[in-house]
Amino acid sequence: MKIRPRNRRIGILLSGRGSNFEAIAANVSEGKLWAEIAAVISNVESAPGLARARDRGLNAICIPSKGKSRESFDAELVRALTAADVGLVVLAGFMRIFSAVMLQAYPNLILNIHPSLLPSFPGRDVQQQALDHGVKFSGCTVHLVNEALDGGPIVLQAVVPVMDTDDADALAARILVQEHRIFSEAIDLVLSGNCELQGRRVRANQ
Ligand code: GRF
Repeated sequence: MKIRPRNRRIGILLSGRGSNFEAIAANVSEGKLWAEIAAVISNVESAPGLARARDRGLNAICIPSKGKSRESFDAELVRALTAADVGLVVLAGFMRIFSAVMLQAYPNLILNIHPSLLPSFPGRDVQQQALDHGVKFSGCTVHLVNEALDGGPIVLQAVVPVMDTDDADALAARILVQEHRIFSEAIDLVLSGNCELQGRRVRANQ
């Protein structure tokens, strides 16, 4: 099955700091990533990433999630994404799980970045999980979003060595450098329309 966004307009969703958003936005404005940031949406008004998006003059929207059911929040999100004519949704530190409402509106058209080599260490406190387990390598994963938490088909990964001296913050910082690199690469790959999904395997046809 081909993965083919209908356009190159991306919607970036975030809940916090927004360093992945910044890296993507910089690549777009420097012409390194052929995409248009059609909307930046946060469920948290105070998210620094949302302020950064406003500073860049982007279409920055807050849709508060507090007190809403998953379905009604997702329905609002779909309306905003559709209004902005978004073809591909990019989760850059977006701390919400989707209902079928979002997954059906954007099937295989939502990318997430996760700071471990999935399927190892899904969920939260990921770097601490990796340290506690004693792995010698960790990294990051860009994957398609489906109903399984951090469980969708893998688009790209990068490997990062774990040092004996690492604490969770040091490991997170080293992984973040790679996140900023591979997220734009993965977006570019999917936007190219040359990706194919075979079972769980995402293959890039050149
Ligand atoms: C990143 O580590 C990302 O992998 C995870 O959430 C964090 C977001 O960081 N999903 P930032 O907001 O992009 O700086």
